[in-house]
Amino acid sequence: MGAVVVEGLTKDFSGVTVLQHINLDIKEGEFFALLGPSGCGKTTTMRCIAGFEKPTSGRIKLGDQVVNDLAPNERNCGMVFQSYALFPHMNVFDNVAYSLNIKQLRKSNLFKKLGVYTRMFNSKLVKYPKEMKQKVMDVLAYVELTDHAHKLTSELSGGQQQRVALARALVMEPQVLLMDEPLSNLDQKLRHTMRNTIRKMQQDLKITTIFVTHDQEEAMSMADRVAVMKDGQILQIGTPTDLYSNPQSPFIADFVGTSNILPGTFLKHEAGITTVKIGNQEIKSVTKTDQQDVQVIIRPENIKVLEEASITDDNSFEGTIEVATYLGSTVRYEMKVGDYRLIADTIYESGHRILQEGYKVRLGVSPERVLLI
Ligand SMILES: Nc1ncnc2c1ncn2[C@@H]1O[C@H](COP(=O)(O)OP(=O)(O)OP(=O)(O)O)[C@@H](O)[C@H]1O
Ligand SMILES: [Mg+2]
Repeated sequence: MGAVVVEGLTKDFSGVTVLQHINLDIKEGEFFALLGPSGCGKTTTMRCIAGFEKPTSGRIKLGDQVVNDLAPNERNCGMVFQSYALFPHMNVFDNVAYSLNIKQLRKSNLFKKLGVYTRMFNSKLVKYPKEMKQKVMDVLAYVELTDHAHKLTSELSGGQQQRVALARALVMEPQVLLMDEPLSNLDQKLRHTMRNTIRKMQQDLKITTIFVTHDQEEAMSMADRVAVMKDGQILQIGTPTDLYSNPQSPFIADFVGTSNILPGTFLKHEAGITTVKIGNQEIKSVTKTDQQDVQVIIRPENIKVLEEASITDDNSFEGTIEVATYLGSTVRYEMKVGDYRLIADTIYESGHRILQEGYKVRLGVSPERVLLI
């Protein structure tokens, strides 16, 4: 039994289909990323799971319960929004205590009697029970915000606000944590730190988490499994290494990492090796194929760039350097090979020379590293 199961989820907005038959089976305690370009339907999928959108068809299960007809507050999902959606007029403590407060009032059926609006929006009037206070302070300690508990959220930095949003979701002890692009408002350095914080927290708490992002590096570095979406459909689901080494379409090869993608024509298959023609070059691959027209996929780090004299095995081609970009630990070469352009990433060792524009090189790639789709 999966922790979150989505079966045949379809969603139309005014007759326009934005999700087409989405199937997901997310395991208990899994960190699952939904990855895809802007507009592909990630947020809509998430909102259907959380109950903010009603599916046009399909089923959503949390544990063994079908939740299609449950309101968001009956689903036990914690949600962290891209905008954080914090209350700027409340301090950190009250932002985190807010949902607990509502839950408690609902439970005790005092919602109307006590003038809930006064209680909710003028937090100074609120007397929190001791256990609630403790719980909020524990969560704030967990996200390292104890010292900021009484600051207004509008006085916090982006990273601190992000942690308030996280604390607010966690304090409810949700069955599933849903995070929609939670890091997109942060600068690059903070994004890296928060990636680690979120991943560590998820592992500590073993909380089933769905994380939406359009940043492949974020998805690949954080998630146990990633679903790649495009145009309202899921194209492939796999572990990060699966997706990287066995992309099932050129779109995924390009979206997950960088790839050289070249059109090829099948020539022959002999002794476990397929030979394909690209322009007037032949290239060998260990991938079996029964297609005539193939896409040849080569990752930049799998191309060796050698000085022209050092001719190697079969899979080697002549090329000319067009652009060399020094990136610290690596050098990226963009090269012209026949009618095509190839990108190669080579490790830079100090003292090595960087080959400049116009330099003739020999490129080599092992048949094991040539993928045919
Ligand atoms: N309430 C709505 N009414 C009509 N169309 C909508 C609504 N919400 C989303 N859409 C459309 O559904 C499609 C998917 O939107 P969604 O917000 O799920 O994309 P996304 O993958 O989250 O994109 P982004 O990365 O930009 O956040 C888009 O074409 C969008 O315009
Ligand atoms: Mg979105």
